[in-house]
Amino acid sequence: MSDLVLHITGARPNFPKAAPVIRALAALGVSQKLVHTGQHYDERMSEVFFRQLGLPEPDVNLEVGSGTHAKQTAAIMTGLEDLFEAERPGMLVVYGDVNSTVAAALVAAKMQIPLAHVEAGLRSFDPSMPEEVNRLVTDRLSDLLFATSPDAVAHLGNEGVAPEKIHFVGNPMIDTLLANIDRFDQDKARTELGLADRYVVATLHRPGNVDDPADAAALVKAMHAVADQAEVVLPLHPRGRGRLQAAGLFDHPALRVIDPLGYVEFLGLVRGAAAVVTDSGGVQEETTMLGVPCLTLRPNTERPVTITHGTNQLVTRERLPQIVEAVLTAGRAESWPTPPLWDGRAGERIAQVIAARLR
Ligand code: UD1
Ligand code: UDP
Repeated sequence: MSDLVLHITGARPNFPKAAPVIRALAALGVSQKLVHTGQHYDERMSEVFFRQLGLPEPDVNLEVGSGTHAKQTAAIMTGLEDLFEAERPGMLVVYGDVNSTVAAALVAAKMQIPLAHVEAGLRSFDPSMPEEVNRLVTDRLSDLLFATSPDAVAHLGNEGVAPEKIHFVGNPMIDTLLANIDRFDQDKARTELGLADRYVVATLHRPGNVDDPADAAALVKAMHAVADQAEVVLPLHPRGRGRLQAAGLFDHPALRVIDPLGYVEFLGLVRGAAAVVTDSGGVQEETTMLGVPCLTLRPNTERPVTITHGTNQLVTRERLPQIVEAVLTAGRAESWPTPPLWDGRAGERIAQVIAARLR
């Protein structure tokens, strides 16, 4: 084994998590390469993050593209096995809970390559979510588990993970947010889209919301009822586009569906929003830091710290319109607590642990 660190990324939420870790490891002089599996490939889902976050060009892109879970995971595993054979890395770093994460973890375990998981220990306790399967498997196989919140540490302990493997480091996605916060220009974002002063931002892509036509229809009905109250802008993830369009999403004059936005433009828009409606994991965390009310259209969250220490609440499609009304009436809070260690230094803490382990 060498002392080379390989970072495995592939899907949109991986990039803001990896950027601060890569930067901090570079500052320590650790030799590293960045792998892109190609799980996400549209310019707006991938390349724009590399440009905006100053990420290095990927050293390798496996270009696996889309597919069923088994096909996509298998394609990533096959590509990574060849790569690891050639590179013999001393450590792999994987991020979050996407198929690229679990695929890399499985290959690492079989090839006995030490594995570090950034964002370990999050649990929705909902086995119907593919991400929950990915989290459980990845954590089980990891040697270094970097947790973003105390509940995550507790889950890992309850599952029997040895305490010396668990490191509570804070949240690297929040490092990226804090490092870029001066670039989030809410006036520019609002004016460019010609939005009214008061508007709602939405993102929707969870299979539980968009895959089934009946769910999509119920979601569209709820979103139209929100648009009856305030202008809504929805940078739509490609996953549900067809089904949501078929269910009439685009048919409300105050609901603007646009392509996914770049990171800086998106968070500029979020920063000035009266409320955010979402089923994204990362957006629950980002709204918590920005103090923007977040209504999460899910029955559960693996990020309860955004409820106890942030601006998040879980809502059903049925109750969404009335909760939006209440949030619009109440306005934004003047102050709110933020989760412990979400201070912009998680990447540095992670890099210190990895560097010590390599030594
Ligand atoms: C994946 C993650 C999910 C994460 C989301 C972030 C898994 C199992 N799921 O879901 O946890 O929240 O990314 O965005 O890994 N597509 C495009 N262009 C792209 C990428 C995807 O058009 O660049 C379309 C394809 O039709 C594809 C579909 O989106 O089949 C789903 O993509 P996929 O990566 O399989 O899952 P996501 O829903 O994006
Ligand atoms: N995001 C973005 N443009 C958009 C929507 C989201 O840059 O149009 C960013 C968002 O700020 C966060 C990340 O994408 O940093 C979250 O990714 P996503 O919601 O796709 O995945 P999840 O967090 O649910 O896994």
